[in-house]
Amino acid sequence: MMDMKVLVVGGGGREHAITRALSCNSDTKIFSVMARKNPGIARVAERVLLEKETNIEKILPFATNCGVDAAVIGPEAPLEAGIVDRLEAAGIPSLGPTRAAARIETDKAFCRRLMERHGIAGCPEYRVCHDPEEARRFIESYDGDLAVKPIGLTGGKGVRIMGEHVDVAGAVEYAREIGGNVVLEERLVGEEFTLQAFVDGEHLVPMPLVQDHKRAYEGDVGPNTGGMGSYSLEDHMLPFVSHRDYDTALRIMEETVAAMRAEGTPYRGVLYGQFMNTREGPKVIEFNARFGDPEAMNVLSLLESDFAGIIGHIIEGDLAASHVRFANKATVCKYLVPEGYPEAPRANEPLTLGDYGDALLYYASVEEQNGTLHTLTSRTLAFVGRGETLEEAEAIAEQAASSVSGSVFHRRDIGTPEILEKRCRHMREIA
Ligand code: AMP
Ligand code: GLY
Repeated sequence: MMDMKVLVVGGGGREHAITRALSCNSDTKIFSVMARKNPGIARVAERVLLEKETNIEKILPFATNCGVDAAVIGPEAPLEAGIVDRLEAAGIPSLGPTRAAARIETDKAFCRRLMERHGIAGCPEYRVCHDPEEARRFIESYDGDLAVKPIGLTGGKGVRIMGEHVDVAGAVEYAREIGGNVVLEERLVGEEFTLQAFVDGEHLVPMPLVQDHKRAYEGDVGPNTGGMGSYSLEDHMLPFVSHRDYDTALRIMEETVAAMRAEGTPYRGVLYGQFMNTREGPKVIEFNARFGDPEAMNVLSLLESDFAGIIGHIIEGDLAASHVRFANKATVCKYLVPEGYPEAPRANEPLTLGDYGDALLYYASVEEQNGTLHTLTSRTLAFVGRGETLEEAEAIAEQAASSVSGSVFHRRDIGTPEILEKRCRHMREIA
């Protein structure tokens, strides 16, 4: 479609990456809804509505007044609030699932039961509980470690793993604390990877594999975060994921899309599969109903096809692999976060950008006051380096991240050969 007007919902690093990718085509006009002004998005948007992303009553008239042709929904909260259903009713199609289809992310019990009903591979042993006593009995009688997950959305920080964060008593206590509405899952051991795909309800087109880093500090220690950074390789694969593992993961995603369609809730949007590559192959940790943050920044920085064009094919329901091309380059994304993040982040601290060379800069949770950037309480800025090799991409991202001065830190080890070797060694050990 020529001259497409696109509404981007969300104001974080992921949404800045979405905006940048859309703006590569100067015929695409961008309109933005975000709770707080993201300087990177604001700079390229035709118009901005500063509003909570779940306030659909305010977003609908804005979208209609701007005459947008389509919307891209960045975060999960508006999906759960039913923004896609409401926009669609107003004649605006979205890259994002309806509220019912978003349950793949927003309701972990639904996700596991769907996989089970359709005999989809990669589903760990699990038990859904709605009562703390039932959870206690299951935890105490289960032979092995479990992951304790709240059934609903938690912003990525709600999982407690036995043997990692809690013991048996701690798991029982945590299940009680959150009211007993939990999914208890077999603890999976292996290496995690992310497979994201564009989905038009029927057809699925995969994006390059990415690995995120959840832990706050170098060497994968410290508290869990929203993700400190991520990398992808020039062949779009990862060395600890064999072609067979990749095919398994892709088939799991395809079968999940087919299952959603068969149940009358076709899935349209970006499907995010987080996998644990285990001794028995890939298992699903979770599905998300959107791009990952930071994983969006890796893949969208490589997108060569016209993003609005892809959205058009998704709306038409005729998406094919030939519509989606990614550069054969490696990427490294490094997030700068406030000192003290995630437990006691130092907000309102000034930041100065240095010379960030060839890196792409994505603004996240940051505030511009009289021309100076200030930290808030979440991830601040991300830099993405792109290169022919991982080494090249890492050097670009690292040099850019180190050039920022202020009360922020980042993980220097993301994308280094040492960390890649560690991942491969771990995979060989468990095999
Ligand atoms: P989530 O909030 O579901 O993304 O989970 C956060 C993190 O918890 C994941 O990145 C995994 O590292 C870990 N996790 C979740 N489920 C499991 C599981 N069944 N076994 C092992 N680790 C898990
Ligand atoms: N990077 C994990 C997420 O977006 O949920």
